[in-house]
Amino acid sequence: VSPGRDVSLDPEVVVTRSGAKAIRDKLCGELMHPVVGPAIEAERLYLGPSRLKERLENALEPLVLYDVGLGAGSNAIAAWRASEARTRGAPLHIVSFDRSLAAMAMALSPEHATAFGFDGEAGMAARAALEHGTHGTHKTRWEIVCGDLLGVLATQPEEHADVVYWDPFSPGANPMLWTTAAFATLRPACRVGATVHTYGGATASRAALLLAGFVVGEGPLITPAIEGTLPARNAKRGTIAALRVEDLERPLDGRWLERLERSSAPLPSDAPADAMTRLRAAPQFG
Ligand SMILES: C[S@@+](CC[C@H](N)C(=O)[O-])C[C@H]1O[C@@H](n2cnc3c(N)ncnc32)[C@H](O)[C@@H]1O
Repeated sequence: VSPGRDVSLDPEVVVTRSGAKAIRDKLCGELMHPVVGPAIEAERLYLGPSRLKERLENALEPLVLYDVGLGAGSNAIAAWRASEARTRGAPLHIVSFDRSLAAMAMALSPEHATAFGFDGEAGMAARAALEHGTHGTHKTRWEIVCGDLLGVLATQPEEHADVVYWDPFSPGANPMLWTTAAFATLRPACRVGATVHTYGGATASRAALLLAGFVVGEGPLITPAIEGTLPARNAKRGTIAALRVEDLERPLDGRWLERLERSSAPLPSDAPADAMTRLRAAPQFG
């Protein structure tokens, strides 16, 4: 792994309201896993909804996970631990993408490693992956690809990923990674049956996924505080996309499209002129 001169991220460790440690990027001001901390959010937003453990246990051939936005490595190490803990199934291949390894290096430092889930063998695996670009056990292979995401994603093999954790900073801080073009770059790398998981639930991001050729549904509630305390209509959900509608539990339906047509919610910045016609023609609204 060769990060080169890193001017894209300036991490610091902070303590969230829940008391968990998290990493904040001083350049864009955003936290990685801001609400209840890295370990719980990785499980609630990514591992649980993607049914990673169950899919691994039932897999007959290696399962490929794209960890988009390695950051502090919290999603990746949670997946690594789940893979190492099961007793059956095929190997997991984690491919982590980021243009900066600074957050991961900070999370792995001796004073923070335990708080970020890098104690014991997990820490040894992560240090090796960071140093050599890859680390393998007989259950889990972890590869780190360093570079600008859209460039490196375009060079991945076709029909490769089974599960994608899409976790860049928000559209405000990371606008290029929520565009139609970004998701269109990801689309060819996804295999039939693949699911794409993200905390982002903005209408424009969902429209970008649809315009890029995914089917799109609602994901999990993004903050536990919302659960049970606010009317369901106010609860914010993440997004799950797939190649087939049967792989979604809560696909967006005609009512989402009607709301989009009536609302002033913006379309993605790079939406084509005929975006509304294309969205209306998306197979899931048929
Ligand atoms: C919210 S953090 C990821 C948190 C991470 N998933 C975790 O579990 O700790 C977003 C990451 O996306 C990376 N990133 C942002 N824009 C990028 C780009 N254009 N190419 C590659 N990585 C990018 C940042 O460097 C940052 O580490």
